[in-house]
Amino acid sequence: MTSLSDGLSDGPQTDPDPPFESVDEVVAALRDQGYIADTRLATTVFLLTRLDKPLLLEGPAGVGKTELAKMLAAATGRRLLRLQCYEGQDETKALYEWDYGKQLMYTQILREKIGQVVEDAPDLGTAVERIGENESVFFSERFLAPRPLLEAIRSEQPVVLLIDEVDRADEALEAVLLETLGEFQISIPEVGTFSAKQRPYVLLTSNNTRDLAAALKRRCLHLFLDYPSAERELEIVRSKKTGLSDSLAEELVNVVRGLRELELRKAPSISETIDWARTLAVLGVDELDSQILSDTVSVVVKYDKDVTKALDALPRLVDPNAVVEEHSHGHGHGHGHGHGHSHDDDGGPDGSEIRTAKDTAGRHGEGVYGTPNYAKGTEKDAPAKTRNVTSGQGSRSFGLGRKRAL
Ligand SMILES: Nc1ncnc2c1ncn2[C@@H]1O[C@H](COP(=O)(O)OP(=O)(O)O)[C@@H](O)[C@H]1O
Ligand SMILES: [Mg+2]
Repeated sequence: MTSLSDGLSDGPQTDPDPPFESVDEVVAALRDQGYIADTRLATTVFLLTRLDKPLLLEGPAGVGKTELAKMLAAATGRRLLRLQCYEGQDETKALYEWDYGKQLMYTQILREKIGQVVEDAPDLGTAVERIGENESVFFSERFLAPRPLLEAIRSEQPVVLLIDEVDRADEALEAVLLETLGEFQISIPEVGTFSAKQRPYVLLTSNNTRDLAAALKRRCLHLFLDYPSAERELEIVRSKKTGLSDSLAEELVNVVRGLRELELRKAPSISETIDWARTLAVLGVDELDSQILSDTVSVVVKYDKDVTKALDALPRLVDPNAVVEEHSHGHGHGHGHGHGHSHDDDGGPDGSEIRTAKDTAGRHGEGVYGTPNYAKGTEKDAPAKTRNVTSGQGSRSFGLGRKRAL
């Protein structure tokens, strides 16, 4: 109960012993944890540790927003508390709940005792009244189940509070967050007011699926995290010790950057670059060509249409001067695309999709990747469609299950 009295004091203290002396120290400390930050990011983090403001990180999925919170916690030795937001979430999941199971268990065990309280009550009304008088026993701190916000505020040790994917939460929850983050205190009618002793470092992330309230943005430091520069992405890939040589990693980063330029439903993020590097390393690849990239493209592109677009673009991306490869078994377009293809087992899960792409390109002659005709050809001729089943399986096994975890 000690924290209750603090509710009346004049608010939480900013960190009396700030962890970083300079922006450079932030860069170095994060790097020690395996997180590669540029100066803009590190400056914002530095300010977060010095100003009494939460940090709102916005940007596409997979650019290191969640990871930053984890690594900041590790770098500062603070515990990480995480509130994962989702649609329809109500505030009890963010603030606190009553531990109903525990309340029930206590009433079961204390049945006799409770019986005594109402034993000589002349009527039901009086009995209810008596129980009511004792209600506070069951709505006390003992039966409180703190959720991340209350836990952050009650914590004896300063923490990093990550409010992840806040754009998924409803606006009602956003209002609760705003209020809580404004004062760093939570009032529980039955118990009292809890107030943070030391201000947590608060990071909110958003994948921009909807606009956040202006009031929330106003209260926060703000950083838009985009895909990194080629240089920083290479550094990140290197730091992950993927097993891929530096020169191949450099080429790969450029290919991924090229894929990001295509209008994909889901552009590949940093984690996909890392996964691709690992995949290629495991396969023992010592040269990047469009064949091996095509064979493994489902590691980075997770939707059928995206796969088709990526397969079209890969030869150009891996070698801008590429002349469209001659089809090894001629231009025979009669040999049944898709199902029943006798070579179906020679190219991994997406093997025939790759061949399909090549077939189509071959038919249209030299250097026509991306031309309207070409695009139409792939759509209409359906071989890609037939094989969509396969690439769909690819995206299920590689992507969707993991998407939320990003
Ligand atoms: N700056 C970085 N340094 C090191 N690894 C990073 C960096 N940014 C992203 N990553 C890698 O990318 C992965 C995905 O990042 P994550 O934080 O989950 O993305 P987001 O929360 O933005 O969707 C992380 O697990 C990490 O491996
Ligand atoms: Mg995330």
